[in-house]
Amino acid sequence: MTRPDNDTFLRACRREPVPYTPVWLMRQAGRYLPEYRRVRERAGDFLSLCRSPEMATEVTLQPVDRLGVDAAILFSDILTIPAAMNRGLRFATGEGPVIDHPVRTAADVDALPVPDPGAELRYVPDAVAAVRKALNNRVPLIGFAGSPWTLATYMVEGGSSKTYGIIKRLAYDEPSVLHRLLDKLALAVTDYLNAQIEAGAQAVQIFDTWGGVLTPPAYRELSLGYMQRIVNGLHTTADGERVPVILFTKGGGAWLEEMAETGADVLGLDWQTDPAEARRRVGSRVALQGNMDPAVLYAGPERIRREVARTLDAFGPAPGHVFNLGHGVSPDVPPEHAEAFVAAVHELSAAR
Ligand code: CP3
Repeated sequence: MTRPDNDTFLRACRREPVPYTPVWLMRQAGRYLPEYRRVRERAGDFLSLCRSPEMATEVTLQPVDRLGVDAAILFSDILTIPAAMNRGLRFATGEGPVIDHPVRTAADVDALPVPDPGAELRYVPDAVAAVRKALNNRVPLIGFAGSPWTLATYMVEGGSSKTYGIIKRLAYDEPSVLHRLLDKLALAVTDYLNAQIEAGAQAVQIFDTWGGVLTPPAYRELSLGYMQRIVNGLHTTADGERVPVILFTKGGGAWLEEMAETGADVLGLDWQTDPAEARRRVGSRVALQGNMDPAVLYAGPERIRREVARTLDAFGPAPGHVFNLGHGVSPDVPPEHAEAFVAAVHELSAAR
């Protein structure tokens, strides 16, 4: 694989020494950037933006240019897969994602197609290839997908949920129906990530945003087990290299040892998890990413800098730290605060 000019992120994923701590932000391309809002307006709706490799490339590069982050993440969404499964996905203003025809019965599951990343999802690998070309090896490109459990919550609930009552009822009352859905989603996600790797993604992250709502045994059975299948099914690049895999279960701090057992290279930490304790628990088996409370970016640059210093101390000097937030950057954060955040990580970590 061609090495990016700035390979600090990939080195940190592999727990190799780095001259400073690499940093990127979950949701680094998005509404907090005025340049994003301009392209979004041009696209009309959000899914059209995702489906245009040209516009997706433009917004993927915006935070690389403005913030100087050490990795780009493909501009897309985890819901591209449910969108290609024909249950009527739309993004309603103020409501978030809505699925007009939720999946709730065995017949519903059996009717779902496994989307082909070479056909109906072709715009995703096309966007990966276009971004790689535009990046010209400045920084590596991260591809991503949602975990089967997280995708299933949207498909079964019909959108975002507060209680997960419908999908949990299914899990307790008709587990075989839910397992059939998760099985299909695991296949779809594996194909989808492999298509991104083949098109040039240099690392992949699995977003398990809602794994944390499960009990420990249900997490193992309904979320981690299916992420394990995906990790096992990922292909190497054309040069025979394994791309680093990042697992992020929000609310999954109690399960880090088991997550490390999957063979993932990096674990994402939310802000409820203590990084020093996380490091003690997983040892040197995996790199760690994330953790800073996204709300810190509401504070001024001086306060951000102090929090960055505190976080660097908490992770300690061991190799294998990718600086990030504990979840996505909020849409109402001033862009200058995100700039100050990235600059502080670079400066303070280089001086250690
Ligand atoms: O990190 C990045 O910069 C890459 C882009 C990215 C988006 N979504 C863009 C987006 C990524 C990695 C995602 C993942 C995603 N999408 C997740 C998992 C990560 C997480 O935050 O936990 C989830 C749960 C989704 C589902 C999703 N997509 C929701 C709930 C929403 C609506 C939220 C809202 O505030 O309206 C989206 C839309 C979405 N995805 C936006 C962006 C920039 C906002 C769209 C817009 O109005 O412009």
